[in-house]
Amino acid sequence: MAEIIGGITTSHIPAVGNAITDGLTQEHYWKRFFDGYKPVKAWLEEKQPDLVIVVYNDHGLNFFLDKVPTFAIGCADKYENADEGWGLKPTAPFDGDAPFSWHVAESLINQEFDMCTCQEMLVDHGFVNPMRVLFGDHEEWPIKAIPLAVNTVQHPLPSARRCFKLGQALKVAVESYPEDMKVVIAGTGGMSHQLQGERAGMINVDYDLACIESIINNPEWFADQSNSHIIEQAGTEGIETIMWMVMRGALGEKVNCLHKHYHAPISNTGAGVLLLEGAG
Ligand code: DHB
Ligand code: FE
Repeated sequence: MAEIIGGITTSHIPAVGNAITDGLTQEHYWKRFFDGYKPVKAWLEEKQPDLVIVVYNDHGLNFFLDKVPTFAIGCADKYENADEGWGLKPTAPFDGDAPFSWHVAESLINQEFDMCTCQEMLVDHGFVNPMRVLFGDHEEWPIKAIPLAVNTVQHPLPSARRCFKLGQALKVAVESYPEDMKVVIAGTGGMSHQLQGERAGMINVDYDLACIESIINNPEWFADQSNSHIIEQAGTEGIETIMWMVMRGALGEKVNCLHKHYHAPISNTGAGVLLLEGAG
């Protein structure tokens, strides 16, 4: 049977992609940020998962504002990347696993999450940068990857509670897949940032750290918060952090925290990294 062996969270800042391409990861500005991923990369190296489900938000590459699904899942065998305006050179395409995706989609829909199923899906920096940070650059990626997109762009957005419940349903979906497979769930985006308006550039370190603690030990605290409260505390784009709750829900009631890291600011964002393992 398929098994969820762990969960990862990471921000998905576009400038990170340029830092990798330009060989800047050990420069003073970037070093501490990238060093925060070392234990996660070592864990991935040791565990050799077969597949990662990347929970991210599309920023206008695959879905534009005229049509935005609340939750969408890729059901293809290949996902192409394209530059959506940050000047990032497109990466090699990612291998998916269409039969696995269809199983997950069917299970989620049976559990009352009415997913949009995408047999074609372009993936943007929200998906690609976490893959590059965690696995390096490849012409052939060493792991299968499934995009699961959450609308954090066009209101009304799903709540943190709804994302948490989606994660719980995702656990049931993955664990009912009959093939032996080691699966990792990556929740991307966040933490606090706002890219436009009067509060552009705001970061809320105390709130970010409280969210990290909640996601590890007390997800109910974050799940109880309204989107307007989260946006007040974390900024209009800080709402992306609700996607970490999908990862958290998929790990079960208790978790062991194998690694946590926080760095602010990087680009416009408070950036957090978590590596969690389900503990029953
Ligand atoms: C930044 C962060 C994001 O999550 C994003 O989608 C775009 C930009 C930033 O920090 O610059
Ligand atoms: Fe983003």
